[in-house]
Amino acid sequence: MRTPLIAANWKMHKTIPEAEALASELLPLVADVEDREVVLCPPFPALAAVAAACRGSRVAVGAQDLHWEAQGAYTGAVSAPMLLAAGCRYVIVGHSERRRYFGEDDATVNKKLAAAFQAGLKPILCLGETLAQRELGLTEALCEIQLRQALAGVEAGRIENLVVAYEPVWAIGTGRTPVPEEAQAVVAFLRRALAGMYGPEPAGRVRLLYGGSVTPENIGGFMAQPDIDGALVGGASLKAETFAAIVKCRIQ
Ligand code: 13P
Repeated sequence: MRTPLIAANWKMHKTIPEAEALASELLPLVADVEDREVVLCPPFPALAAVAAACRGSRVAVGAQDLHWEAQGAYTGAVSAPMLLAAGCRYVIVGHSERRRYFGEDDATVNKKLAAAFQAGLKPILCLGETLAQRELGLTEALCEIQLRQALAGVEAGRIENLVVAYEPVWAIGTGRTPVPEEAQAVVAFLRRALAGMYGPEPAGRVRLLYGGSVTPENIGGFMAQPDIDGALVGGASLKAETFAAIVKCRIQ
């Protein structure tokens, strides 16, 4: 009932020509994929070029961040209407690197999420605990706070366009991952929280992803979990063959 989604977060990698080259190498490798949605999230300067490369394919493009205002005196910021005009359909919101290095908090994440919905972009809301929080047994409580604060004021009608990525901070770029059953437990908890907020039917439509050191070797175990509907992939999305192998993984 939920189409699995595999999203590539290229982070601050790839110039425009490099991004075009990666997209052109990837597209034929995933051209026959019909049962999974693929989203590429290049850095801002490469968005339009990657969107042009993906036109006519089943691969969609997303941005890695947005500002909550549509326009204004916000030097360096990029708005939802700008992303739409560049060819984006998705936007990552609240990535832990934005929270850690750029001072984003749940209040700004909430404003960004609202702006994305308002513009018709599908937000990929990222949340997850740090290692210290996990060791204190705070994983679920922390994730629930991030979820509720991000979604404050968001109406049930919007929720089917929401994607949530559970990304434990300690698993990002480290080669360490939770075992799939642990990730499933947190993701199932998030779905129950969404059901409490919006009802079981809308919550059942939200795609919940796992992110953090996903590889072609470990993706099958995550995808086999009943509540995990895909992945948000960092490092392993920077090579066409590796990312294609993740997109086309067999469920184990
Ligand atoms: P890695 O796959 O490099 O661990 O990054 C995960 C991530 O942050 C995706 O948003």
